Amino acid sequence: MKNLKDKVVWITGASSGIGEALAYALAKQGAHLVLTARNSEKLQQIKDTCLKNTKHVTVQAMDLLNIQDMNAAVLALIAKTGGIDVLINNAGRSQRSLAKDTPLANDRSIMELNFFSPVALTKAVLPYMLNNNAGHIVVVSSISGKFGFPWRTAYSASKHAVQGFFESLRAELYDTNIKVTIVSPGRIKTDISLHALTESGQAYNKMDDGQSNGMPADKCAIKIVKAIKNDKKDVLIGNAEVLMVYIRKFFPAIYYKLVSKIKN
Ligand SMILES: NC(=O)c1ccc[n+]([C@@H]2O[C@H](COP(=O)([O-])OP(=O)(O)OC[C@H]3O[C@@H](n4cnc5c(N)ncnc54)[C@H](OP(=O)(O)O)[C@@H]3O)[C@@H](O)[C@H]2O)c1
Repeated sequence: MKNLKDKVVWITGASSGIGEALAYALAKQGAHLVLTARNSEKLQQIKDTCLKNTKHVTVQAMDLLNIQDMNAAVLALIAKTGGIDVLINNAGRSQRSLAKDTPLANDRSIMELNFFSPVALTKAVLPYMLNNNAGHIVVVSSISGKFGFPWRTAYSASKHAVQGFFESLRAELYDTNIKVTIVSPGRIKTDISLHALTESGQAYNKMDDGQSNGMPADKCAIKIVKAIKNDKKDVLIGNAEVLMVYIRKFFPAIYYKLVSKIKN
C-alpha cells in the first residue's frame, strides 16, 4: 500500500512504546488513525499530538483480554470509521520469569494477549477485507519468535505461534489482494520490560539495559511504516541483536552458548 493518506489504519497497543511511535509516524502519512489500548487518557493525549499532522483520529478504549465479542467490536469500529484498510496487531506483554517459577496461569495469560488476541482480531477483520479483496494485516512479533530466549519461555512461545499463524495466513491469502507483514523487532527502547509479567503476576517494573540501549521507538516505527508501504512479508528491526537470527540458522553451536548467557 504505497500511499497511506486517508487510509484507515488501526493500531492496537497504541498507548505506549512502538504503538505510540507508529501513531505519530502514520499521522505524518495522513492516515485516518484508529488507536486502541486500555489507557484511554493516554490515547487521548496521543490523539491530540497526531491531529497536528492528520485530520482523522478515532480512539477507543479496548482491553483485548476482555472482549466477549470481537466481531461486534470490529463492526462498531467499522461503523465509526467507514472501514479498515490496515490492521496493526501490536499490543503485547513480555515476561521476566524462569520456566521453573512461572505458574501455568501466566503462560496462558501471555498466550491469550500475544497470540489469541491478534488471531481473534484478524479473524474478525478478515471477512470485511475479503469482501473488498483489499487490506493489509500487520503483526508485531519479535526476534524471540525466531529463536528461544531465557526468562521468556511463554513470551517466546507466543511469538513463535504468531509467526506460524500469520505465515500460514499469508499463504492462504496468496491469490487475494490482502497483504500480511510480520515485523520482528529486536531490542526497542520502550517500557516493555517495566510492564513484563513476573512469576508473582506483578509487573517487572525495571528498565532492562537491553531496552534502554535499544533502537529508539520512533526509528523502529519509521521502518515499520516503510515495510507496510513496500508490502514487505517479513522484517527484522533492531541493532546487532537481530544478527542472532542468522547465528541461530548458520552457526547453531555458537547460538546455543550465546543465548544461554542472556540475563534479561
Ligand atoms: N520493545 C521491544 O524491545 C520489543 C521487541 C520485540 C517485540 N516487541 C513487541 O512490540 C509490541 C509493542 O511493545 P512495546 O515495546 O511498545 O511495549 P509497551 O510499551 O509495554 O506497550 C504495550 C502496549 O500493549 C498494550 N496492551 C497491553 N495489554 C493490553 C490489553 N490487555 N489490551 C489491550 N492493549 C494492551 C498497552 O496498552 P494499555 O496498557 O494502555 O492497555 C501498550 O499500548 C509487543 O507486541 C511486543 O511484544 C517489542
